[in-house]
Amino acid sequence: MRKKIVAGNWKMNTLLKDGMELAKAVEKLEKDKQSDALLIIAPPYTHLSRVNDLIDNVKLAAQNCASEESGAYTGEIAPDMLVSAGVEYVIIGHSERRSYYHEDNELLNKKTKLAISKGLKPIFCCGEVLEEREQGRLFDVIREQLTVGLAGLNMEDIKQVVIAYEPVWAIGTGVVATPDQAQEMHKFIRDLLIELFDKEVADNMTILYGGSCKPSNASELFANPDVDGGLIGGASLKAEDFLGIANAY
Ligand code: 13P
Repeated sequence: MRKKIVAGNWKMNTLLKDGMELAKAVEKLEKDKQSDALLIIAPPYTHLSRVNDLIDNVKLAAQNCASEESGAYTGEIAPDMLVSAGVEYVIIGHSERRSYYHEDNELLNKKTKLAISKGLKPIFCCGEVLEEREQGRLFDVIREQLTVGLAGLNMEDIKQVVIAYEPVWAIGTGVVATPDQAQEMHKFIRDLLIELFDKEVADNMTILYGGSCKPSNASELFANPDVDGGLIGGASLKAEDFLGIANAY
C-alpha cells in the first residue's frame, strides 16, 4: 500500500506568530482526521524549529534546501541544518523555484541527492506550463524533469522520494486539472518510474497532485487510482480547509 499524503506548502506566507498558531491548529485537527493520510506542513525557514516544537503527528517539511553541504554560500540553508531543526521532508523543484530562481533540472538533481544523503525525504515537484500542454509537449517536459531530476538515485534513494505533479497553469489560478488530466499524467509518471527504476518502485511511489486543490474538488482528484494525495498551497493556510482536503479520501 502506498502512503497517502496531504502536504501544505505555505510558501512565503505567515509571520512567525501566525505560523505557530496555524501549526497548532493543524496538529489539533489532525487528531480527528477521518482518513489515513499523513499530514505534512512546509512553513517558511524562519518558523521551522519553533513549529517543530508544536507538532507531533503532523510532519515537518522545508520548502527548499541548498545544493551544497556547508560553507560560503550566503543566504543558503543546508540539508544538515534542516535536519537539526527537526525537518523530515523537503520540497525540491517547485515551479516557483524553477521559474523565479532559475533552478534547472541538473541543480535540482544535485539538491535531491544531497538531501537524501543527509536523511531528508524530497518531495520532488514537476509540472508543465500551459504553452507546453497546448503544444502537446507535456509528457516530454515531465519525462525530462524526472529523468534528469532523479538521475543517479539508487533503489534505496528513490524509496525516500515523494513526487508531486503540479501543472503550472493550475497553481494559484483557481483552474484545477480535471480528474482525467491528473490521472493521465500520474499514470504516465508511474510508468516512467518503471522505466527509470522498476515496478516495485513505481507501485510504491506516492504521487501527489498540486494546483488549486480545495476541499470541494479534492475527493474527485483523490478518487483516481494513481493520485495518492495533494500538495496544497492556498488552502493549506486555513487549518479547516487543509484538514477538509485530508478528509476528502
Ligand atoms: P495552490 O494550491 O495555491 O494552487 O498552490 C499549489 C502549490 O503550488 C503547492 O506547492
